[in-house]
Amino acid sequence: MDIKISASILSADFGNLACELKRAETSGCDMIHFDVMDGHFVPNLSYGVPVLKSIRGCTALPFDVHLMITDPLDFIDAFADAGADHITFHEEIASDPVRVIEKIREKGLGAGISIKPKTPVERVFPLLEKLDMVLIMTVEPGFGGQGFIPETLEKISALRTEISKRGLSTDIEVDGGIGFNTSAKVRAAGANVLVSGSYLFRAEDMAAAVAGLRRQLD
Ligand code: DX5
Ligand code: ZN
Repeated sequence: MDIKISASILSADFGNLACELKRAETSGCDMIHFDVMDGHFVPNLSYGVPVLKSIRGCTALPFDVHLMITDPLDFIDAFADAGADHITFHEEIASDPVRVIEKIREKGLGAGISIKPKTPVERVFPLLEKLDMVLIMTVEPGFGGQGFIPETLEKISALRTEISKRGLSTDIEVDGGIGFNTSAKVRAAGANVLVSGSYLFRAEDMAAAVAGLRRQLD
């Protein structure tokens, strides 16, 4: 199973986004994690379609879009057209998750579903065959730079066991508080896609930070 590092630009210098994307690419990151917040689903705002559109050409890395928004169905077309490669939305939204997954697939993109730390992982089990990825939030969504919640490790293990039992190759992504000290733990529990924001973008030498993470993951 491939191990991937997805750099969350929520912690990047927004005045120099093009340079920050290049820095992530040349430092050995595998994807760019693009956090979209609507001020309803989470108590914060970030950026959306026009920003993705304008930075899409700055890097060859795939864009891993994380929709922390109440109505993802209304925005799949726009994010796909702006250059998203994978779209992940939250299980806790009110609308039908199967319809959202189908819509992401219709656009030819990778589909993921995410759960907040307090949502039982079993809630995504009925959807597993339809998904490329499950994103287990390891902090409450909404802000970068928070501390990793250790209780989420059990959910990662339970999900990896279920995925293996069914003979699937679904990626497990983790997001929140991931850095040198937490990466080995989430990897041991079964995660293979690691989102990291503040640990990478606050590093003076991002390439060394990425190499440090990879050493922990081997
Ligand atoms: C939080 C976002 C994360 C955030 C992670 O809601 O989904 O992607 O940028 O930031 P760090 O790695 O600093 O915890
Ligand atoms: Zn995220």
